[in-house]
Amino acid sequence: MAIEIGQFTGSWEELVELLDVAFSAPWSEEQYTAERLVWERERSIVASEDGQLVGHTGTFSHLMTVPGGQLPVAGVTMVGVRATHRRRGILRDLMRRQLTDVHEAGREPLAALTASEPVIYPRFGYGLAAVYQEIAVPKASRGLRPVAGIDDVRIRYVDAREYLHRCADLRNKLAAERPGHFVHDERWREYAISNTVTIDTDNASKLRCVVAERDGELTGFAYYRTKRADKGYVDVQRVHAVDIASHAALWRYLLEPDLLSETHCEMLALDDPLLDLLLDPRAPNPVTRDGLWIRPVDVRRALAGRTYAQDIDVVLEVVDEFLPWNAGRWHLSGGPDGASCESVSRDADLTLDVRDLGAVYLGRPSLARLGRAGLVTEHRAGALAATSEAFSTSRLPFLDTGF
Ligand SMILES: CC(C)(COP(=O)(O)OP(=O)(O)OC[C@H]1O[C@@H](n2cnc3c(N)ncnc32)[C@H](O)[C@@H]1OP(=O)(O)O)[C@@H](O)C(=O)NCCC(=O)NCCS
Repeated sequence: MAIEIGQFTGSWEELVELLDVAFSAPWSEEQYTAERLVWERERSIVASEDGQLVGHTGTFSHLMTVPGGQLPVAGVTMVGVRATHRRRGILRDLMRRQLTDVHEAGREPLAALTASEPVIYPRFGYGLAAVYQEIAVPKASRGLRPVAGIDDVRIRYVDAREYLHRCADLRNKLAAERPGHFVHDERWREYAISNTVTIDTDNASKLRCVVAERDGELTGFAYYRTKRADKGYVDVQRVHAVDIASHAALWRYLLEPDLLSETHCEMLALDDPLLDLLLDPRAPNPVTRDGLWIRPVDVRRALAGRTYAQDIDVVLEVVDEFLPWNAGRWHLSGGPDGASCESVSRDADLTLDVRDLGAVYLGRPSLARLGRAGLVTEHRAGALAATSEAFSTSRLPFLDTGF
């Protein structure tokens, strides 16, 4: 039977059945509810054979922070192919259809995803644009350097649901300053407090919320669970604060768990101030993980859609074997206030693969570093260093919400 690729018209239950098989594990009740809440049925693309669903890819409509602003981004999700149908090119066909649809709709110049297995997506033009650290701080090593004003911050336990909107508004404000974060609308606010995809909920408390306040004003919040085990720990889901005193006060609280011996955080930015404040730099024992993968779907609009750290005037030759409309030479000019990008036929200053353009798009890793790895070819002396500087950002890209 031929495999057909098309828009999904079936039920949520049919899709869950496929994903259960593809991911080799059933979803928990909480996960089922949370994923259902954010699922965008009209953006689901499926592969079917003789009426049976054999593959799926979905898209979330995100608004993501990029250097200098926020752009619509297609968040690729729930990718799976039935185990009986693997390695026949179904994922490839789904990816091509999805990226073509996104391109034709003309709204989202970028696609983004988090990967179950990082080797899968570079072949489709995705580059690793943001990493995060997983840390575990023993209670005995919780000491922090002094932080001015920390004792003026009050930490208060509140009901996560009651404070949902206040916390989410604060987070959205901060998310606008951090490349890689996307805006939490109503559905994603709910998702952030109910999703348990990456959480081991056995023997764990419900989600707890503490807020930081100064003079009665909300200045930060943290979501966490506590886990009783042989070596019990606090499992920190997220910490957001408007200033360093509130950030440190929240962490001071989270690092002092009664009856538990450690504090874990699965997703911490590599430049989180906590790492600079801990007296014992070895204490967090960090493990770096791949976070956000970025794919330029429309190179011209993607490059023109961000700002640059310094003036830039460069011709980039982009190699894109998967989406031919991106391949070619692009003249990018602009700076801190904005940029423009046009297709040109003149000689290129730099040549790079589209996946590497995706990798550097949010500001890290540097183009210079990829150049040292032999992944960028420089045709004009000095072009690599100057372009690399222009692409850099002061905040490292980081995604605080897996999807
Ligand atoms: C990953 C998955 C979607 C791949 O589907 P598929 O239809 O077998 O993939 P395709 O046949 O289209 O493969 C396309 C290419 O990717 C490669 N590939 C696919 N899955 C891979 C994997 N897990 N590891 C390494 N390479 C992989 C194939 O070898 C092929 O390579 P080629 O371009 O050199 O020929 C499928 O195996 C699956 O559902 N896995 C479990 C769920 C999962 O991991 N989903 C991804 C969520 S982020």
